Amino acid sequence: MTAVLADHGLLRAWRSAATESGLAKLYDRLRLRGPVIATPWNSVLVTSHAACRDVLADTGVWRNPDDEDFRQHIGDEAAKPARHGVNQTLFHLNGADHTAQRRRLAPFFSPRALAAHTTTVQGVVGTAAERFVDHVAYTGGGDAIADFVAPVAGTVMCALLGVSEQDHEFITRMATDLSFVEELAPRPSHARRADAAITELFTYGRKLIQDRAYTPGRGLIAYLLDHPDSSGRDATKEVITALVLMITAGVSTSMSLMSSTVLALCRNPDVGHDDTAFVDECLRWDPPAHMVGRIATQDTVLAGTPIARGTLAHVLIGAANRDPDVFADPHAFVPGRAQSRSLTFSAGPHYCLGAGLARQQAVHLVAAWRQQAGGLAVEGHDHPRMKGPNFRHLLHLPVTTGPR
Ligand code: HEM
Repeated sequence: MTAVLADHGLLRAWRSAATESGLAKLYDRLRLRGPVIATPWNSVLVTSHAACRDVLADTGVWRNPDDEDFRQHIGDEAAKPARHGVNQTLFHLNGADHTAQRRRLAPFFSPRALAAHTTTVQGVVGTAAERFVDHVAYTGGGDAIADFVAPVAGTVMCALLGVSEQDHEFITRMATDLSFVEELAPRPSHARRADAAITELFTYGRKLIQDRAYTPGRGLIAYLLDHPDSSGRDATKEVITALVLMITAGVSTSMSLMSSTVLALCRNPDVGHDDTAFVDECLRWDPPAHMVGRIATQDTVLAGTPIARGTLAHVLIGAANRDPDVFADPHAFVPGRAQSRSLTFSAGPHYCLGAGLARQQAVHLVAAWRQQAGGLAVEGHDHPRMKGPNFRHLLHLPVTTGPR
């Protein structure tokens, strides 16, 4: 059985669905076409939960793409310095290189390390919530993204890295600009912003090390410098690669999760009081990254469909999270679903290292919001979102003191 070919209408909807109703329709259309849909650029869209899981788990057949794969499948526009910088990080490593790098970073994200971050994260979220509530009270309104979740995500990242919290705006800007390279075919202006960001971030990283402008004994930078890599890897290079990884992986994604959590809280103020279940449903319902890519290393068969070696699979996490075979009534927001099997943090050996930290931030946000900001309301419906296909996060979230 060959894969069904996606028509232009479907591809257009997949690339640009940017409202909640548009996304729900898109997932229904994808599901009707089948678990594996061919595109005109030697790739497939993987749409069912089972097939997505198979691809992510089977590293014997599927590997993460590198510079050359992006060039071949997506074109020269994507083969830019920013893409190259991000491709050097853990995200895009495979096999033994991936295992070694992941082992090196893993202690930093262990349950013990996470517990050590709790007070900091709680403090950052609590202070930001208080300031936001004051801001809305004095001015009559505010943007929950620019005025609340962006400072939280940026400041938490500063603490994690062990750099001055005054750098939070810089870190958030770097994250926003670099995230464009993880989009399928970035617009030329976005690619230029990403290229400028990688240069700026390299300069920032070198200067941090030269000036010792990080907190001694605390944070990821000090940790990497204090525990040199036994393979003899250049320490400056390692720290800069870790900076690129953390900023690309952990800031825009956390902002996206916290934005959809604020929206869900305003809409469902009385839904359940299990904050973790609430956050888990936000993660399923509105995943910060809607897809990840993999390359077939050999001819294979996926969900009954033959796939040729070299094919790029777009693993559609967003579609898998709305698969009715796994989630009953998938477009409804229902915290505490019996089966919390969303693929938001991926699966297999590349499972998100920062998942615990991301959850921790959002759970503290739910508690702080319920305590301090429960009277605030979101204005409007179908708020503007980034046009995908990977990132479809909210761009603005206007909040007022008005009645719910
Ligand atoms: C809600 C927030 C987040 C989401 C949805 C998310 C999602 C993901 C996904 C889907 C992957 C796997 C990519 C793949 O399979 O190719 C990933 C990997 C990763 N994430 Fe996250 N992430 C989030 C927050 C964070 C945070 C806060 C950090 C760190 C501070 C982080 C660090 C990482 C790292 C280091 C990897 C690479 C793991 C590997 O390749 O082995 N993430 N993340």
